[in-house]
Amino acid sequence: MSESVTTENLLDNLSTAVLVLDDNMILQYANHAAQAVFERSLNLLIGYSFNQFIASSSLDFVRFQNSMQHGEVYSDGEVTFKFTDGRHTQADVSVTRMLEDQNKRLLLEIRLVEQQKKISQENHQWAQQQAARELVRGLAHEIKNPLGGIRGAAQLLAKQLPSEELQEFTQVIIEQSDRLTNLVDRLLGPNLRPNFDWQNIHKVLEKVCTLVQLDPSHNILITRDYDPSIPDIYLDQDMLQQATLNIVRNSVQVLSDNREIAGEITIVTRIERQVIIHGASFPLCVKIQIIDNGPGIPSELKNTLFYPMVTSKKEGSGLGLSISQTLIGHHRGKIEVDSWPGRTEFTLYLPIDKKDPQK
Ligand SMILES: Nc1ncnc2c1ncn2[C@@H]1O[C@H](COP(=O)(O)OP(=O)(O)O)[C@@H](O)[C@H]1O
Ligand SMILES: [Mg+2]
Repeated sequence: MSESVTTENLLDNLSTAVLVLDDNMILQYANHAAQAVFERSLNLLIGYSFNQFIASSSLDFVRFQNSMQHGEVYSDGEVTFKFTDGRHTQADVSVTRMLEDQNKRLLLEIRLVEQQKKISQENHQWAQQQAARELVRGLAHEIKNPLGGIRGAAQLLAKQLPSEELQEFTQVIIEQSDRLTNLVDRLLGPNLRPNFDWQNIHKVLEKVCTLVQLDPSHNILITRDYDPSIPDIYLDQDMLQQATLNIVRNSVQVLSDNREIAGEITIVTRIERQVIIHGASFPLCVKIQIIDNGPGIPSELKNTLFYPMVTSKKEGSGLGLSISQTLIGHHRGKIEVDSWPGRTEFTLYLPIDKKDPQK
């Protein structure tokens, strides 16, 4: 193994949770993914009993003990775990005994099943959305090219026409071409020149909050719950602002339309470890959540939410979320949604690393 790859680093970058227990089931080691599964930091895991965190589980504890005593390797699929904090999850588990200086240890590998399913679902959705966007972009370009010609010809024709009355017709051609060009430009998305720089994420979010609060037509409460320790990330301020603003605006709109609820939007920032984004694993990410207490996303839109032109609004363009996703994609990030009546959560993940995302 090359010297630059340390075992510690390797283990902490695995997406599989790795735990080591001694023969009293006391935790001796947990990698980053394990800390994420248990939602506990290292000092709240090491030295504690494994059973202390598990309220119940379909894990076969007899075979588990046999592994420890006789060294049998034991694997089980789709084991359910119920944690003492109420969460539950399903995982594939492998148990291997390790002997270290006469001490018996159990090596536990836990791979969340939901996560695997989610990843393949996510990749599938991402591919479909990409295809839809490409199709729309392709069509938009094809429409845009002849429009210039039509408009130009109508202008020339207008100059040749003998009477002013006839110009009314050329004017209609010009106006309608402009209307179409406008629509097509919106379909093609903002033509922002990338301008990446190291920036504080909260500066961008505060701008979004200011823009939303300036709007006097609503009195929605905006609550911030920021983690101030999040480091600067390499981002394009305008793009990220647009991406988050599109999401926050949707919350504002839905809350303004449902005034019987006291509208509230919460913006949460956290650091998240071991995030998988379109098949690549990132050890460290910023997680930004935009949560509203509105009626939730209409269920018939859920599967196609990020497609261009998907909207439930009379005057909606259906482009907001599609654009947000493109812009977050430029940051190598992803957007997830969870929504039910009374709560809608959009979660953005952006990698934190020292790399320039454009290279
Ligand atoms: N916070 C939210 N609560 C409920 N529905 C939402 C929310 N955000 C988005 N939606 C739904 O997603 C649709 C698409 O949003 P978007 O792409 O921004 O297009 P538009 O806002 O033009 O409709 C919206 O029309 C709405 O039905
Ligand atoms: Mg919108």
